[in-house]
Amino acid sequence: MTLNIGVIGAGRIGKVHAENLATRVPGTAVGAIADVVLGSAQEVAARLHIPKVTADYREILRDPAIQAVAICSATDTHSQIIIEAAQAGKHIFCEKPIDFNLDRIDQALAAVEKAGVKLQIGFNRRFDANYARVRQAIASHEIGELHILHIISRDPGPPPVSYIKVSGGIFLDMSIHDFDMARFLTGSDAVEVYTVAGVKVDPAIGEAGDVDTAFVVMQFANGATVTIDNSRKAVYGYDQRVEAFGSAGAIATDNLYPNAAIISTAESIRRDLPLNFFMDRYTQSYEAEIRAFVEAVTQNKPIPVSGQDGRVPVVMGLAARKSHLEKRPVKLSEIG
Ligand SMILES: NC(=O)c1ccc[n+]([C@@H]2O[C@H](COP(=O)([O-])OP(=O)(O)OC[C@H]3O[C@@H](n4cnc5c(N)ncnc54)[C@H](O)[C@@H]3O)[C@@H](O)[C@H]2O)c1
Repeated sequence: MTLNIGVIGAGRIGKVHAENLATRVPGTAVGAIADVVLGSAQEVAARLHIPKVTADYREILRDPAIQAVAICSATDTHSQIIIEAAQAGKHIFCEKPIDFNLDRIDQALAAVEKAGVKLQIGFNRRFDANYARVRQAIASHEIGELHILHIISRDPGPPPVSYIKVSGGIFLDMSIHDFDMARFLTGSDAVEVYTVAGVKVDPAIGEAGDVDTAFVVMQFANGATVTIDNSRKAVYGYDQRVEAFGSAGAIATDNLYPNAAIISTAESIRRDLPLNFFMDRYTQSYEAEIRAFVEAVTQNKPIPVSGQDGRVPVVMGLAARKSHLEKRPVKLSEIG
């Protein structure tokens, strides 16, 4: 069976998913693409030979030939589109985060449950080969009992302030990947969160009501301490590393580089900068996650990143933000 998917949102990430679905993932086809900016959808459709283009995603939901949707539009549209897609009986892949608001997330998850469709959330980093190896080392006790997990996650540069304003803020937009990574790697859940954060990169981000530099310390239920180190700007490029430390050793991952060359001179030994941003660094994981979604639907396998997996990092993000604003440790149970 060929799974006919409609892509909703033809921006940065919509293009990635549309291209993977149209050209790399077997057993699927992109039957339609929607974007409120019709020209964006038309450009992608022309390049990937997608037969149907619309500015109104509801046209995709009404199309009986489409069995699933990939929601790649702006975050503030996700929960509403999930509800409507579920009611239309479509299986759903949705980009992170589901929503900024827990009530709306719960309404969306209830609609999915009621319709009996599958929902996968776009936490692509779980499908990255480096992090999968760290998970394996922790789960198999290769490094003994996990004591400390450090997650370093720094972007090469901030997005436009217009994006920051609708992003939900650094904790729900950027750190959310790291909250999910913390759950995925530890196999456990956070109990308490403490955040120290500020504006170091661009005052305009502060004027928009957000921060651009954050450090989050979390106590996990399994006893591990987890730290997340975020910056919106690392001058040397995308910095994505983790180190797990346990009673019997440690495991660390490096950044990915465009080449493995080392240049040695009389002054220094150096190498080129890491792959610059998520489109290059996480290419393999985007393909793997959407492939897993297609397989889950067509072969009726369990979904690897569930709606609940989408909800919990939002709770963690809200707790981290509250901790920053109130300058105190916050228990996850305070958020709900
Ligand atoms: N998993 C990841 O690594 C990752 C990376 C980037 C973005 N994202 C997430 O993906 C989503 C989109 O981010 P982006 O960077 O692609 O943003 P973007 O601004 O580049 O693209 C969003 C697109 O959605 C369109 N859109 C907005 N409302 C719409 C609607 N009602 N119907 C149809 N189209 C609509 C916009 O016109 C735009 O083209 C966000 O939720 C973001 O958090 C995830």
